[in-house]
Amino acid sequence: AAPSTVANGTSSAITVEEFEDLASLVKDDEASVSITVVGASGDLAKKKIFPALFALYYEGCLPKHFSIFGYARSKMTDAELRDMVSKTLTCRIDKRENCSEKMEEFLKRCFYHSGQYDSEEDFRELGKKIKQHEGPRVSNHLFYLSIPPNIFLDVVKCASKSASSVSGWTRVIVEKPFGRDSESSAALTKGLKQYLTEDQIFRIDHYLGKELVENLSVLRFSNLVFEPLWSRQYIRNVQLIFSEDFGTEGRGGYFDSYGIIRDIMQNHLLQILALFAMETPISLEAEDIRNEKVKVLRSMKPLRLEDVVIGQYKSHTKGGITYPGYTEDKTVPKGSLTPTFAAAALFINNARWDGVPFLMKAGKALHTKQAEIRVQFRHVPGNLYKGSFGTDLDRATNELVIRVQPDEGIYLKINNKIPGLGMRLDRSNLNLHYAARYPKEIPDAYERLLLDAIEGERRLFIRSDELDAAWELFTPLLKELEQKRMAPELYPYGSRGPVGAHYLAAKYKVRWG
Ligand code: NDP
Ligand code: BG6
Repeated sequence: AAPSTVANGTSSAITVEEFEDLASLVKDDEASVSITVVGASGDLAKKKIFPALFALYYEGCLPKHFSIFGYARSKMTDAELRDMVSKTLTCRIDKRENCSEKMEEFLKRCFYHSGQYDSEEDFRELGKKIKQHEGPRVSNHLFYLSIPPNIFLDVVKCASKSASSVSGWTRVIVEKPFGRDSESSAALTKGLKQYLTEDQIFRIDHYLGKELVENLSVLRFSNLVFEPLWSRQYIRNVQLIFSEDFGTEGRGGYFDSYGIIRDIMQNHLLQILALFAMETPISLEAEDIRNEKVKVLRSMKPLRLEDVVIGQYKSHTKGGITYPGYTEDKTVPKGSLTPTFAAAALFINNARWDGVPFLMKAGKALHTKQAEIRVQFRHVPGNLYKGSFGTDLDRATNELVIRVQPDEGIYLKINNKIPGLGMRLDRSNLNLHYAARYPKEIPDAYERLLLDAIEGERRLFIRSDELDAAWELFTPLLKELEQKRMAPELYPYGSRGPVGAHYLAAKYKVRWG
């Protein structure tokens, strides 16, 4: 249950009612937001968080009064942090523009504080520094936990006790992994809730911030031509595909204790599945959407080992270059059985989706980098033209493809007559190609999610019951794979993955797109 008090950084606490009264006294545009990137010296902070914050600043989306604080153990001055951050900022919004002036303005509002992750004293000092920059206005505090998960709780404890806001809100963005099974995830949630209410916790799944994933509900619910077809009556199968054309280079240490099922399927692909398959929410409010997503997750049939294929990439030489196998990475234990590829057939036990296979495929070191949702429709009953497709009747069915990345687009494969005399049929694409239709660069997922967290919009963040349901689905399978020490099928670096994935699809009369 939510605590009825809000920690205010001193030994006392104010009630939620007092806090709301105080906050309502001050107009939003006068409040300040202080964003602390915990783990600022790390890869994610440099690669994604600071660039996303700069893009928001550039677009005029950050509040008038804002400051950004980097926090980590590494010793750095403000100038050194600015120097580090400046190397990662780009004018990606409009490459022709010289945005150095904006960058300078942005960097002046970035500060650094070095401290331990389990030291209330160090966070108290951070709190003082934040206060100096806020001035006498309502101050809101956002913490981004860009650190390994084993120190999440230390940081949340210290930050909530010693650096949370006295007058405004305090929110914490938590990066994955949220545990590695049901038990550890429940323990993490329980730990976080000792210091924060559920409303203060923003569990990030950056796939929910991707433009085409955001567009999924718009496509389905605002176009009459799609929603009536969105069921077992017309859809034969749905494919959720993630592939990367590089291995775990550099992240082998983290990856080996998680594997591809936890890294991609249990979160990114399952979240897309829930959004895809949910019933119409009562409204676009966060809780209404999350209520529908959780119903889908709770309706999933238990995952069976025979409906799963796992793989691991091995070294491969191509064009004179040898690409190393997974276990050749120095950060990976010798003989590791961790899967770098997995395919699975999932089913939703409800009236809309009964019997429709949702096939997931996720892999590293494959031949291409892409993320796609493919919807294959049923055959047209009594199709007058079926003779025109020869024996390959599957070629005659419609397919809707939502290409999440790269080169975002949506296309619908339809049948049409080849112009000219006679009657020959062809398959063509009705194509919405984003780059052609919308020349402006698409924001990075982290921009959308950071902005939503600042604005208190929870729609794209994972609620704890969604997380519990996602782990309930995958934990028994993960345990079985680990207990039985299932050996992954090896596939060459840069290939299409293990052939087992094709047999799995064939079992359900599916052909991967
Ligand atoms: P890093 O390993 O780079 O760690 C971030 C910072 O945390 C480091 O700079 C270091 O700072 C501190 N740190 C690292 N290891 C430890 C440790 N064992 N004990 C205490 N402090 C430590 O992580 P990333 O930046 O790659 O990722 C941050 C979080 O985001 C993780 O939870 C990760 O799983 C998640 N994530 C990362 C992605 C990525 O692309 N990198 C993608 C998606 C999620 P210092 O030593 O200065 O204190
Ligand atoms: C992360 C995974 O969540 O997503 C990584 O931990 C993966 O292993 C990454 O590379 C992919 O994200 P994107 O946005 O580059 O597709």
